[in-house]
Amino acid sequence: MAIYNLGSINADYFYQVPHLPGPGETLAATDVTRGLGGKGANMSVAAARAGAHAVHVGAVGADGAWAIQRLMEFGVDTRHVATLADTPMGQAVITVDAAGENSIVLLNGANHQIPQNIISAALSEASPGDTLLMQNETLNQVESANIAKKLGLYVAYAAAPFEAEAAKKVLPFLDFLILNEIEAAQLEEATKTKPEALGVTDVIITLGADGARWLHNGSARDFPAMPVTPVDTTGAGDTFTGYVLAARDRSLPMQQCIALAMRAGALMVTRQGTADVIPDLKDVDEARF
Ligand code: RIB
Repeated sequence: MAIYNLGSINADYFYQVPHLPGPGETLAATDVTRGLGGKGANMSVAAARAGAHAVHVGAVGADGAWAIQRLMEFGVDTRHVATLADTPMGQAVITVDAAGENSIVLLNGANHQIPQNIISAALSEASPGDTLLMQNETLNQVESANIAKKLGLYVAYAAAPFEAEAAKKVLPFLDFLILNEIEAAQLEEATKTKPEALGVTDVIITLGADGARWLHNGSARDFPAMPVTPVDTTGAGDTFTGYVLAARDRSLPMQQCIALAMRAGALMVTRQGTADVIPDLKDVDEARF
């Protein structure tokens, strides 16, 4: 089985700051690093590191050859990543404070110009039971979900960065939805429907330090978070999502998928960076919390 991930690829520029800057504030960073990121790329890397065949469907600019190379090094299938001549790759300027909290400014770049024929070519390879994963850093989500549903794929959506309207549009196609508590409340307000009544088979609401809640068939099950001291929370949610879906792709019961992903996400917040530092299965298995 395979996970087809229509997702962003960003150059993540990390600035270490004593606190997140306020309006009008000029702040000196103590360090800067560049790494591979983008919610899409992070999820592809996490899924690959968790043992799945992760096929990334996306685009970079001519400046993004290094990013494709790095995805390949992490075991991601990059045959359906286009290189566009006239646009830069996506970028994220990420400030991280001393407590590991972040704020992110995005440049969409090539992520908003993924050619439709690239998406169609990728999905034409898919088999029933494969997964289509999407986030909200690319366009063409509804069209892709529609094709995937007709092909019998399991359609998964990580509603980040959250926009109620974008989430509402893909909802009718979804088998899996993951979002945080605030986003779940916003979606409930926008749809006038409780998350458990959205008609989505598996809904996961992440609760930060309180863990995660899985809604399935009218029942709710809570999963506690691991006790860790965060260094950098950036990409932890993406790691969680990639791990859940990779484990599901290997036919593990959803309870086990979530328990494994909780461990991967917890380990991730102890590391500085995004795709480059996503733990592999061995690291997750050996982690002691
Ligand atoms: O979720 C973290 C990601 O958000 C970063 O890698 C950044 O690129 C943005 O997409």
